[in-house]
Amino acid sequence: MKIRILGTAAGGGTPQWNCACAQCTRARREGTARTQDCLAVSANGTDWYLVNASPDIRVQILAAPELTPGPGQRDTPVRGVLLTDAELDHTLGLVALREGADLDVYGSAPMFSALDEGFPVQRILAPYGSTRWHETADGVPFTLAGGLRVTAIALSAKRPRYAAERPAHDDWVVAYRFADPLPGAALLYAPCLAQWTSAFDAALEGVSHLLVDGSFFHQDEMARTAGWSASASDMGHLPISESLEAVAGHPGLRCLYTHLNNTNPVLDTRTAEYRAVRAAGADVAADGQLLEL
Ligand code: MLT
Ligand code: MN
Ligand code: ZN
Repeated sequence: MKIRILGTAAGGGTPQWNCACAQCTRARREGTARTQDCLAVSANGTDWYLVNASPDIRVQILAAPELTPGPGQRDTPVRGVLLTDAELDHTLGLVALREGADLDVYGSAPMFSALDEGFPVQRILAPYGSTRWHETADGVPFTLAGGLRVTAIALSAKRPRYAAERPAHDDWVVAYRFADPLPGAALLYAPCLAQWTSAFDAALEGVSHLLVDGSFFHQDEMARTAGWSASASDMGHLPISESLEAVAGHPGLRCLYTHLNNTNPVLDTRTAEYRAVRAAGADVAADGQLLEL
């Protein structure tokens, strides 16, 4: 299995277009920009699936050599998109993929209800070509082109702000477990994790690599940096300061933090927070990073 990490920033990216905070300013000055969270994954190196479609998807695809089109004029190795949630930073890119490719999009029933109403991208895309929408069920494995085995794992009822009034279901947000057809390594991708439950521990059984929610390091990070009262958990994101302890309970697991908000001090490798991540044996994912499992 190959995983190309296409983007590692939370919604807005780093720097965010309208933000002059210390970290966004530093990213502009030092050229350490990050695009918004998403991945490309393949079991055979030929058939690739995007996991989330960020608003930066066009430049992310252009930067990933595996996703180059050809040999036919409109051939693409991109077969489809799997969604971990219906948040705008994970779905706006669907609109950018409208130029006629045959794509299979996977997501849960509540996500698709949001993509039919609050952000009606299913209806918007319908006249543009053949996007096929496949509903996933919690814990039921399915196989993608190229042999990749995938299981969606329900994580939380956190709804996008544009769908806040819709009914609660525990699969508004999911993680995906990816495994090769042959027994061996597996990856768990959970860019929006509200709580590290015993069910989440169970989902890590046999998993060698974890790409997990690193939106915030501190529970009170928005208060520290922007004067907002909402805690990380209020926003549905378990802070790294709390997930690091759980990571320590899985020795041998390669853990990378992604979906990093521009407030997060781990963006700067000179901080104590970044050193704490490294000391726990974990790391911060990088845009363009390739994992071969
Ligand atoms: C989140 O991850 O909490 C959301 O994507 C926030 C947003 O950008 O709307
Ligand atoms: Mn997000
Ligand atoms: Zn900023």
